[in-house]
Amino acid sequence: MKNRIQQILDLAVRAPSGDNCQPWRVEFNGEELRLFNVPEIDSSEFNRYQRASMVAHGALLENILICSSGLNLKAIPTLQPNPADPDLIASFRFEDCASPQDAHFEAVSKRCTNRKTYQKISLTCSEREALLACASRHAGWGTLNLVENEPGKTTLAKILATNDQGIFEHQLLHRFLFKHIRWTEEETLRTRDGIDIRTLELSSMDRLSFRLLKFWPLVYLLRKVGALNIVGLKAKQVALSASAIGVISLDNTESADWIQAGRLMQRIWLEAARLRLSFQLMTGITFLMQGALENSISFLSEHQRKALQKSHEQILRTVGHPPGNRVVILFRVGHSAEPTATAVRKPIVLKEFS
Ligand SMILES: Cc1cc2nc3c(=O)[nH]c(=O)nc-3n(C[C@H](O)[C@H](O)[C@H](O)COP(=O)(O)O)c2cc1C
Repeated sequence: MKNRIQQILDLAVRAPSGDNCQPWRVEFNGEELRLFNVPEIDSSEFNRYQRASMVAHGALLENILICSSGLNLKAIPTLQPNPADPDLIASFRFEDCASPQDAHFEAVSKRCTNRKTYQKISLTCSEREALLACASRHAGWGTLNLVENEPGKTTLAKILATNDQGIFEHQLLHRFLFKHIRWTEEETLRTRDGIDIRTLELSSMDRLSFRLLKFWPLVYLLRKVGALNIVGLKAKQVALSASAIGVISLDNTESADWIQAGRLMQRIWLEAARLRLSFQLMTGITFLMQGALENSISFLSEHQRKALQKSHEQILRTVGHPPGNRVVILFRVGHSAEPTATAVRKPIVLKEFS
């Protein structure tokens, strides 16, 4: 059994995580598999209350279920089985099972982030229907809207532009991102985490500028003279090149709800991969929005807090979700060339428990 579980994890580890931090740890006792969050791995301000990590765990959990089906096993999960241990995300038991493999099995290893500019063409009817049908199969985990009309996309793209701009406005966000950039192939393969610079799809000129932007005093200076507005403009263009901007919202935001949102996000992403569509999360901003709504992020000025609250209201209005909902995930989806590179992973090492 241990070998089969290891095979499942070798595939499932392709799940996405914020800055490719991979905030997980796994234990197995021959019958039961336990999936844990490791809070200190992702100390980003985006990850307040471990919400970004919960989304990543939702994606990993879904991958474990899907990959088990590919190895003739049925994984039976229990979410957060021990309320006294918030780091224990889920436990799984396994049964032999002869039913066909999950329709997303092949997509688990194909799914990846594509940060290229997309081809500005609409989704076909069948692509749109497949994505929406996938979301409605898992409607209990969150609500999805795809915004395809130009005015709606423009409103959302302006908000998404602040996603990238924020990195150069808040030193803590900037420090965390640059700590996780892997500048060479050697560094990428040695650490097997973080963001491989090639996956940012920068031109050689932009890559050079990006390297200089590692130095906060320079960022500070450039921002003062307005030279960094270009970052927001580029992010807006990139967002507008998508066929659709996706919005996932929740009507409740307990920690289990973030796990379910991650499961929904993963299913939609896998469906996009199955349809050979390109996909990128642009969702750091939604985690800052939670902080603005709850007044829990001290580095936000009153002006920034109000602006984030207003953007949150605007998103809900644009997609027609109830005003009490929380926007948790934003992404773009569309048609484009293959990404230049894809992120690598650390293998998951199974620890035994008795
Ligand atoms: C909660 C969460 C938030 C993320 N936010 C962003 C984002 O704002 N922008 C982005 O380009 N990628 C974002 N990502 C994608 C990760 O950077 C990506 O999944 C990781 O680097 C691994 O790459 P892969 O998706 O190609 O496997 C996010 C992922 C997660 C799980």
